[in-house]
Amino acid sequence: MGKHILLLLLGLTLLVSSLQALVCFECGNLNSMGICNFRTAVCYAHPGEVCASVLTYKDGKFVYGNQSCAECSGRTVEHGSLIVSTNCCSATSFCNIVRP
Ligand SMILES: *[C@@H]1O[C@H](CO)[C@@H](O)[C@H](O)[C@H]1NC(C)=O
Repeated sequence: MGKHILLLLLGLTLLVSSLQALVCFECGNLNSMGICNFRTAVCYAHPGEVCASVLTYKDGKFVYGNQSCAECSGRTVEHGSLIVSTNCCSATSFCNIVRP
């Protein structure tokens, strides 16, 4: 009896911790409307990873981007008229949603 309760608790703990895992949108290519048109998926962030999105803007307009689970450092880099902005978040699952 006691053993069963322990097993049940263990099972519940595993279930809860898997529910708490950080899940992110994964997309190889988001178009200018923010719609994923290549490799749409979700990913589970491993330890050290967070939800990331890389967004490219031209003349202030969103042109394309991608989303992933990654070791991420937020930064914005200018390449001529293109601005490439790397965003990282881990507050909630799917926080790397892109709404252009
Ligand atoms: C996202 O785009 C950036 C910049 O183009 C690239 O360096 C990175 O590898 C891409 N990541 C994925 C997951 O496609």
